Amino acid sequence: MKKILAFLLCAMLLLSCTAALAEKVGVSMPTKDLQRWNQDGAYMEEKLKEAGYEVELQFASNDVPTQLNQVETMIDDGCQVVVIAAIEGSSLGSALDKAAEKGVKVIAYDRLLMDNANVDYYATFDNYKVGTVQGTYVKDALDLDNAEGPFVMEITAGDPGDNNARYFYQGAIDVLKPFIDDGKIIVTSGQIEFDQVATPTWKTDVAQKRAEDILTANYANGEELDVWLCSNDSTALGVTNALEANYGGENWPIITGQDCDIANTKNMIAGKQSMSVFKDTRTLAAQVVKMVGQILSGEEVDVNDTETYDNNVKVVPSFLCDPVFADANNYKEILIDSGYYTEDQLQ
Ligand code: BGC
Repeated sequence: MKKILAFLLCAMLLLSCTAALAEKVGVSMPTKDLQRWNQDGAYMEEKLKEAGYEVELQFASNDVPTQLNQVETMIDDGCQVVVIAAIEGSSLGSALDKAAEKGVKVIAYDRLLMDNANVDYYATFDNYKVGTVQGTYVKDALDLDNAEGPFVMEITAGDPGDNNARYFYQGAIDVLKPFIDDGKIIVTSGQIEFDQVATPTWKTDVAQKRAEDILTANYANGEELDVWLCSNDSTALGVTNALEANYGGENWPIITGQDCDIANTKNMIAGKQSMSVFKDTRTLAAQVVKMVGQILSGEEVDVNDTETYDNNVKVVPSFLCDPVFADANNYKEILIDSGYYTEDQLQ
């Protein structure tokens, strides 16, 4: 009997020690306002827990001081790795310094953390390629190599505080700029440079307001618009809203996007948005969980790019996942058959 009791005691002790030893991972997401970050957060939490980690997941309401606080708390709470999708890439310096002091590893998630040496890894989708896919879609849809044109286009890009935004813009502009330069594409508003077309905070209403102003100033008399190049879905939604209320042309313009958010996928099905770039949250989260495991077990961390992502202090070793083209023709295969959405969600 004594032996059995002793055995049980040992087993209980062992169990509680293992629980106490469960490694802890912090996940800091920018906001709950956009569908994608909710999905990224939820999926990361699920996969990390499945892998046996304790998880501290926080959303920062798009408020930089809140995110700074949350990351510092994660470090104080004993997280051994923090995974951060920054609101503003350069604003988390003091938290990153604190992480380094305490030996906590940092993975920049989707958006690069800038201007600090204490960023260990970066996991994202190939951001330049996202822009290339959007630009190439426009080029093919208008048959720019052969058609005479001219075609009329406006441009909406992302948040200047997000390092990704310039990559998306540049990828698309590198495809389309030759046609702008030779007059086959006309940007009537004259707003072409990134700083002129950017959307601070990526917000739908900010993009909508700028689109309304452009439409009022340049397209109030039924002038046709062939394309509105948008860097992502939240901005595409704002542009679509503005067009629905203010556009009097005969042809509905091509509108690009990124993320395959539900509202935008519904718009694609309804013919209001032409395409989106699908970045499967599950692929990115799985990659990050793998990286966390490799970091914590001291293995070599899986990266596939050691040249592109310079954060102004160092080139951060990165893993780039592949973005996928989506439109009304292939969304069933890509979004529904893969289990990302159900049919019902898209009704
Ligand atoms: C992400 C995009 C997203 C945008 C707005 C970017 O950093 O890569 O997928 O649409 O932020 O949240």
